Amino acid sequence: TWTTEGVAEELVERVREQIGDAHVICGLSGGVDSSVAAALVQKAVGDQLTCVFVDHGLLRAGEAEQVERDFVEATGVDLKVVDATKQFLDALAGLTDPEEKRKAIGREFIRVFEQAAREVVGEAESDGHPVKFLVQGTLYPDVVESGGGEGAANIKSHHNVGGLPDDLQFSLIEPLRTLFKDEVRAVGREIGVPEPIVARQPFPGPGLGIRIVGEVTAERLEILRAADLIVREELTAAELDSAIWQCPVVLLADVRSVGVQGDGRTYGHPIVLRPVSSEDAMTADWSRLPYDVLAKISTRITNEVAEVNRVVLDITSKPPGTIEWE
Ligand code: XMP
Repeated sequence: TWTTEGVAEELVERVREQIGDAHVICGLSGGVDSSVAAALVQKAVGDQLTCVFVDHGLLRAGEAEQVERDFVEATGVDLKVVDATKQFLDALAGLTDPEEKRKAIGREFIRVFEQAAREVVGEAESDGHPVKFLVQGTLYPDVVESGGGEGAANIKSHHNVGGLPDDLQFSLIEPLRTLFKDEVRAVGREIGVPEPIVARQPFPGPGLGIRIVGEVTAERLEILRAADLIVREELTAAELDSAIWQCPVVLLADVRSVGVQGDGRTYGHPIVLRPVSSEDAMTADWSRLPYDVLAKISTRITNEVAEVNRVVLDITSKPPGTIEWE
């Protein structure tokens, strides 16, 4: 019979056998999958694992801290944090096309991760422990969907890891490849991954970079982060987190509309709420959130986020609309 404890133990044991006394590296994104994968490997081989967290500056409020502080405290992983915010902002300067933004973020990510990986490899080698493996949080649905071929979200082929240069070659350790998402969460809880990380809803790799319609700037990120935090706080307070699949919050940075706040006329930006229900993100329906929750969110955002004077609700299903706006 399937028990979470039994599965976690078995996965840890298998990883331990696979790795032996080699050194391993793992890229942490702050998402559920990479966090649980890293925690499992940590349980299996302890300080033979080094995690790398590339902070691209496109995460939501508090999420970098959850990785840097809470995850490290809970699991004891050796974590190397690279603050690459400025580098990503520079790479995004002037870009407005969604695919160009994705490409820029992806390219920068590889560049920063590669540099960090080289440093980890160098340090481990000088201690006499060559780095042989890279941990990936690939899940069972990723394995099935990709048919073993190239996937968008994960890097699958052995010895040819996602655009890393030829002299950086790792074999993959994919401890979650037999599990579904709910099983990953159960295993994560079992081995002590912090609840805010285990319970996290899907969040795109390019992060807030594709939730600002228009150019991404530090100032715009700040506006979006503030609005997004309010939405998350109110959804949690209303106990709606498990009722919705995810709720992108989008800043229409190039749109302005007239408003009136206090005694003055404002000319601010709209924030779009995109709460959806879904089974697998392939199709989705807009969530019928209670009016009082929507009202609270709207009041708080327009009161607390100075540059925003309008909150609108996206009532489009997928198809025809995608979940994200970009
Ligand atoms: P769409 O917008 O295509 O989103 O309906 C479907 C799911 O995928 C997420 N998403 C992404 N995830 N990189 C990611 O890792 C991306 O570029 C990306 N674009 C969308 C989205 O949040 C939703 O869960």
